[in-house]
Amino acid sequence: MVAPGLEGTVEVHSYLGPGDERSLADDVLDGLTRPLKELPPKHLYDARGSELFDDICELPEYYQTRTERLILETNADAIVKRTSAVELVELGSGSATKTRVLLDAMDFAGTLRRYVPVDVSATTVHAVAERFTEEYPALQVHGVVGDFERHLGNLPAPAGPRLVPFLGGTIGNFPPGSRRRFLRSLAKVLGPDGHLLLGTDLVKDPLVIEAAYDDSAGVTAQFNLNVLHVLNRELGANFDVDAFEHVAFFDREREWIEMRLRATKPQHVRVEALDLEIDFANREELRTEISAKFTPERLEGDLRAAGLELVELYTDPQELFAVSLSRRA
Ligand code: SAH
Ligand code: TRP
Repeated sequence: MVAPGLEGTVEVHSYLGPGDERSLADDVLDGLTRPLKELPPKHLYDARGSELFDDICELPEYYQTRTERLILETNADAIVKRTSAVELVELGSGSATKTRVLLDAMDFAGTLRRYVPVDVSATTVHAVAERFTEEYPALQVHGVVGDFERHLGNLPAPAGPRLVPFLGGTIGNFPPGSRRRFLRSLAKVLGPDGHLLLGTDLVKDPLVIEAAYDDSAGVTAQFNLNVLHVLNRELGANFDVDAFEHVAFFDREREWIEMRLRATKPQHVRVEALDLEIDFANREELRTEISAKFTPERLEGDLRAAGLELVELYTDPQELFAVSLSRRA
């Protein structure tokens, strides 16, 4: 039996309400009326998109997930020792499969108290909250369904030294300017004795990178195209999804990969909820995501610019991916 006061608890708070259809509406109005059409990537992750992303993580071409897991497995004990963390506040937690490596190490060290997954995908936050409450009987799970760019002010106060994992290379999905602004905003979340555990994909052979975002089974293409289904469903748009194709290319100068959707014929789209008409010329593209690749130097520069100081940089033998531990400078 679990000692009194040590029973696990679970709660999930949602900060996405009717106002957030507005965020999608604003983003569409903003992004699709520009000369170079663009949408922010968070809208890729509805229930179906989150499922497809989990499938991407298992693809042979998508080296990131298995490499990051290996780095965590190799270094989890050292990370827990170094940070004395009693809680994890995980940003963009998704289905949190790699997080288990950290939770197990904290459990083993006897310091594990609380897990706070933060994600826009309500289905994944609920599923993870339920699963982890079962698997770690003494764990307090405090789920947050929200946008990490807008709702970090709603996090619970630290219960002790805090570790903030931000994995999967998601930081690379920010454009460079807002990336540093976002890292800066994390200082408050870390608190005085907290650490950020950041997963970043590293610069490498462009062919390896492009394959990871354009797999031979076509799962990434489905994931990317799914955002058009989201617009059709949520905003009453009438995109002809079959008349778009997935495009992924590495921009060598900027060292990021771009995902786009390209119209394969001219299209006129109506977005009912916005009373908006949008035209796509033949082969016109809509940018749905960038994913920046880092060098250790650039990473350290970004951290420094955000008032953070690198404590440790962990990587794999092939230097495909890096996990960095940092704290307030
Ligand atoms: N951490 C997981 C998932 C990475 S995919 C892994 O490493 O495999 C990116 C995750 O971030 C998705 O679960 C997505 O729903 C979430 N996400 C994307 N933009 C977000 C935002 N603005 N606010 C909160 N979560 C976001
Ligand atoms: N954070 C992931 C990455 O940058 C997200 C991702 C992987 C993604 N594959 C994708 C986003 C394909 C859009 C399309 O690697």
